[in-house]
Amino acid sequence: MAKDKNINKRISELREMILRHNDLYYIDGLPEISDNKYDELVRELKALELQYPEYVSSDSPTQTVGAPIPDKFEKVQHVTPMLSLESINDSLGANHFDQVCVKELGESIDYLCEPKLDGLSVELVYENGIFTRAATRGDGMTGEEVTLNVRTIGNVPKRLKSSDAPKHLAVRGEVMMHIKDFQELNKRRIEQNGDVFANPRNVAAGSMRQLDARVTARRKLHVYCYQILAFSGNAPTTQFEAMKLLKQMGFDVSPNMKHCRNIEEVKEYHHNMEAVRDDLNYEIDGIVVKVNKIKFQEKLGTRTTNPKWAVAYKFKPRKEITRLEDIIVQVGRTGVITPLALLQAVEVGGVTVSRATLHNMDQIKKLGVKIGDYVKLHRAGDVIPYIAEVVKEKRTGKEKEFHMPSKCPSCGAKVEWENVFCRCPAGLACPAQLKETIIHYTSKGAANIDGFSVKTVELLYSKGLIRNISDIYSLNSSDLLKLEGWKEKRTNNLLEAIEKSKNIALDRFIFGLGIRNVGKHIAFLLAKRFGNLENIISADRDRIVAVKEIGPEITDSIIDFFNVSENIKEIKRLKNAGVVVVESKLVSKGRLLEKKFVFTGTLEKLTRQEAKDLVESKGGEVVSSVGKDVDFVVAGKKAGSKLKKAKEKDIKVLSEEEFMKLVGR
Ligand code: IVH
Repeated sequence: MAKDKNINKRISELREMILRHNDLYYIDGLPEISDNKYDELVRELKALELQYPEYVSSDSPTQTVGAPIPDKFEKVQHVTPMLSLESINDSLGANHFDQVCVKELGESIDYLCEPKLDGLSVELVYENGIFTRAATRGDGMTGEEVTLNVRTIGNVPKRLKSSDAPKHLAVRGEVMMHIKDFQELNKRRIEQNGDVFANPRNVAAGSMRQLDARVTARRKLHVYCYQILAFSGNAPTTQFEAMKLLKQMGFDVSPNMKHCRNIEEVKEYHHNMEAVRDDLNYEIDGIVVKVNKIKFQEKLGTRTTNPKWAVAYKFKPRKEITRLEDIIVQVGRTGVITPLALLQAVEVGGVTVSRATLHNMDQIKKLGVKIGDYVKLHRAGDVIPYIAEVVKEKRTGKEKEFHMPSKCPSCGAKVEWENVFCRCPAGLACPAQLKETIIHYTSKGAANIDGFSVKTVELLYSKGLIRNISDIYSLNSSDLLKLEGWKEKRTNNLLEAIEKSKNIALDRFIFGLGIRNVGKHIAFLLAKRFGNLENIISADRDRIVAVKEIGPEITDSIIDFFNVSENIKEIKRLKNAGVVVVESKLVSKGRLLEKKFVFTGTLEKLTRQEAKDLVESKGGEVVSSVGKDVDFVVAGKKAGSKLKKAKEKDIKVLSEEEFMKLVGR
């Protein structure tokens, strides 16, 4: 019995670890352990599951990890046809829908209203409470099996919560991506290869179409459920109850639903939802009105493809059509040249839009957009408006194709291509890049020098007063007072702000240098780990890549930056001008710097998190497995295999008390 308990515990432990590392690898893109170590964990779990089949469950990561990648999706027959909804657009349509229902039933009706989620419809099937199958809607009768993909979605219960789960259950829901995650994903894609998704729905649909479920696992998707398709046992009698039951069983259901007593309340709900549409964290394009009582639903029945008991009550479209008058290009701080569409100004969802980024040539090709085209602009939630499609029917034949320039529009250097990116290689010799670099260095998160607006930087540049960052510190009142509109007060304010910025914290300075891929957070991690500028400059690749959250790509950018002698000279010039980079206080130079710890067993005085925080606050790191690079294994009560491993590998083992002493507690 005790042995069984231990095995079950180890299996759960392994599953948890593997799922965590899956997230780190696929979602965050920041793996903490090597592929070998990961494979070791999977191997151990598989071996245990093979030996103890009673502990195998379909929510185990072994069910997806290492599963062969299919070359096509299997077709599956739906449990009951997955119907679609008829649409109405206004209150007249709503009245008509209500009147038809009332006439048919001879009674007044209450409705359940839900947001019409703009994602991809899926059917989820559970047998004896275990998730067994997922399928897309397809033609409504047959869909494609996407079980492995849906299994990677965190909020889909793999096992129903209820102790008396129905023997058979089929539910319908919508695969969605939250707007915040969509923006993050696109941001990352722009940083990596520029290939962007047009909207969250496309991501959801594209993710379900992935044959390799590991790609789907990388996307932060959610499923919201809104219909019970089949239920063995005492089925709920209203849609409202059905939703409550779904929730109890562990599903996330349509958020913001409302029980409306009559059609007037339905119209009010529609109005309210349209008003808050932009504040929601997911995309909706209307509401769904459902007759609440299931017996009424059954009485009303269905047409060939639509139920008579439900209707989609749409919002006004947010797509606006306007003319793309020109495409210009902009040179960013890192030299990337991006095309920007200049549009005839138009209001989209309450915002006047006259520009929209086209990201890169790939996007232009995908859209097939030409100068002079009419385009549909779309605004999803608070997403910056973007060009969703070209209205090809409006073409006159006079539209002109756009080509990226062969020379940088700012400095004339020959552009270089890196995948879909067009880049000016001139660095700070390119005025556009220099100006952006100075704006970045003086920005709030870096040197925080108030007064360096785009206009001021343009002016200082045009007068030849700045040619690199360090020139900021050579500005003087006689130069500034000569500038148009610059009087004593403004001049003094700027010079004071410059003087104040001379003492700058290490992380701000690193961020301010504008190293590619080094944002505020990475700058902070570097400062925390290395303590001072010299340590960072001299750190080799291995030491940088060993910093948690810093991957190989970021490491390369850092190494490349400090390998450029002009960058080192510029840092020297800044120092000579009086800039003092303040060492990071976060790093203790004590014996924990760079030390690796593994915790095993139960600690009595500290939680694991507290212990981890303590180690990190002293510059050390906590890792999960006992490799030979580990310096200390802290063994609490009931320490297990890790303690054994530490002894085998001759790694120093500390008791909790000894650990407390070491960290000065
Ligand atoms: S109920 C028979 N409820 O809208 C009724 N559908 O054409 C089946 N949808 O394909 C649908 N949110 O993908 C229902 N709260 C909701 C929904 C919803 C979005 C989608 C669903 C369907 C389409 C209607």
